[in-house]
Amino acid sequence: MLGYWVCMGNAKVIVNEHTVFDYDDEFSLLDSMEQHQVPVTYSCRGGYCGSCKIKLKRGNVIAVQDSLVPLQANEVLACCCVPDGPISIEVD
Ligand code: FES
Repeated sequence: MLGYWVCMGNAKVIVNEHTVFDYDDEFSLLDSMEQHQVPVTYSCRGGYCGSCKIKLKRGNVIAVQDSLVPLQANEVLACCCVPDGPISIEVD
């Protein structure tokens, strides 16, 4: 756990270049995606399993909990971050 919490409410999230929703202060991007019925796989919700790995195409995210999974430069764990302003993501 990083020891800080930052909320960037109402940031636009673009999914696969065609779906748009507003992040609205949910705990994580994963929670927000579920809230808006965006299909996303997950298991542990704690940064351990890597199943919520997505590609961050544009924008930045803020970590809300530690990721214990190796990630490429453009990958994030949806359960471990929140948007830092508008973002575009790619979900398989
Ligand atoms: S759900 Fe396991 S790392 Fe995100």
